[in-house]
Amino acid sequence: MEGKDRTEAILDIAKRRGFFWQNSLIHGAMAGFYDYAHLGCLLKNKWQNLWEDFFVGMDDNFYEISVCHIMPEHVFKASGHLASFVDPVVRCRKCGNTERADHIIEDNLKENFEGASLEKMTEIIKEHNIRCPKCKGPLEETGILNMMFPLNVGTGEEVRKGYLSPETAQGAYINFKLEFECLRRKLPMGLAIIGKAYRNEISPRNVLIRMREFTQAELQIFFDPDAITEHPKFHEVEDYVLRVFPAKNRESRKIDEITCKDVVKVLGMPKFYVYHMAKIQQFYLDVLKLPKELFRFRQLTDEEKAFYNKYHWDIELSLESLGGFKEVAGLHYRTDHDLAGHQKVSGESMEINIDGKKFIPHVLELSFGVDRNIYALFELALAEEQVKEEERTVMRFPRIVSPLDAGIFPLVNKDGLQEKAREIQNLLKDRGFVVFYDESGSIGRRYRRIDEIGVAAGITVDYDSLQHNDVTLRDRDSMKQIRVKIQDLPEVLKKFLNGEDLGELGKPLKQ
Ligand code: ATP
Ligand code: GLY
Repeated sequence: MEGKDRTEAILDIAKRRGFFWQNSLIHGAMAGFYDYAHLGCLLKNKWQNLWEDFFVGMDDNFYEISVCHIMPEHVFKASGHLASFVDPVVRCRKCGNTERADHIIEDNLKENFEGASLEKMTEIIKEHNIRCPKCKGPLEETGILNMMFPLNVGTGEEVRKGYLSPETAQGAYINFKLEFECLRRKLPMGLAIIGKAYRNEISPRNVLIRMREFTQAELQIFFDPDAITEHPKFHEVEDYVLRVFPAKNRESRKIDEITCKDVVKVLGMPKFYVYHMAKIQQFYLDVLKLPKELFRFRQLTDEEKAFYNKYHWDIELSLESLGGFKEVAGLHYRTDHDLAGHQKVSGESMEINIDGKKFIPHVLELSFGVDRNIYALFELALAEEQVKEEERTVMRFPRIVSPLDAGIFPLVNKDGLQEKAREIQNLLKDRGFVVFYDESGSIGRRYRRIDEIGVAAGITVDYDSLQHNDVTLRDRDSMKQIRVKIQDLPEVLKKFLNGEDLGELGKPLKQ
């Protein structure tokens, strides 16, 4: 199943099983807005909790904060978004349809033109006679459009111009000084925000990949710029191998596998930056356990970099339905661009004094699009396979983010099996697992149901359970089963969800 078919299959399962669907469907949905349904919410929360544990857990001086999404115009004047957060657009002369210029070129020529100048895009459109995808009419010259949603806040004389924030990051910068004081003036200091971002995308598309309202998980690390060439834990990762796609490899399309040490030496990236590249790769490969071939860091050229970045590598995952590697996150060295901007516009000093040294801290930003990551998990998980005479759809989510930890099933609905199964449900719930109970239909059907929503573990209570106080634990992916004593179940389930092989947890049963 490829391309559009795969996207259709993802949308079908997402809607049929309760993961996500377009917002306001009953009133005619607007493009680029999606709601998460009950299972989608569980999946998203699990991803966010993992993200928070891993990245906020990197340092004792990193914390999560929660900020407003509507902010006054001055914030975005200071950040540069008012002037520079623009996308290239082209309008159809015939029907008035607008499209993002680089996207329409990419669709036609199958090449990435992000960051190309407006003149260049106009030239390419002319040269290749690229026309309106809706009516085939001719296109105007390429122009620009600011992507923020403006708002009037208040009424009458009190009205103030504001914007829906296009990134969570600004919430950390405007709170920097207050937090720095509360956290006893130490660097590095990290402020993480999981929150909404709003962008009036010209052509929202690819389901959760390009939305107009989306969730970001971003960590802003404030540090002394003189310390960028070091990281106290760099020795822990210096021999760790990164998968990188440097700008110089664009033509050869080659992904290099090189140690962190060599990314510093050969590619000239500073240790503080490279240490965080390693942590990000470990999050995808060790925590989420994604296959390494699907992961890479892509270096952006000067033309492609966001306007606030000095160093900028995107984190990309290879997604079949979208035809290859797609950005899901970014690692941004924003220098003092934002704090200096806020100082200039507000008149409030952002300078700090550490042991007599006065400076404006620099910022390294780890920026993740939560919804893009959820879409990627969906795309990578979806499998259709033949099991004996039957076709099964299975969502192979990494166990650690499967929306529910386990399904619990009495083999038959009599002779006390239901009561025993409920007992186990309560035991696991009390231990913090998210489990659900299902007694309807044959056991095979119940397994298929949890396979389709990606629940990693199936726990079945049978007649032996009543005698020996044990249950069957079934692995969604291999469909193998082991027998587990009920008293050991919480520990075994925990290890299983953390990725331990079923065979290491018990002897597989003959089936
Ligand atoms: P793109 O080049 O695809 O437009 P971007 O480079 O503008 O993305 P950033 O501004 O770096 O994206 O945003 C940080 C992260 O937020 C991205 O890596 C992505 O995961 C997510 N993101 C950005 N725009 C969207 C969107 N419209 N819908 C969903 N997620 C988004
Ligand atoms: N905060 C980085 C971004 O949204 O681009």
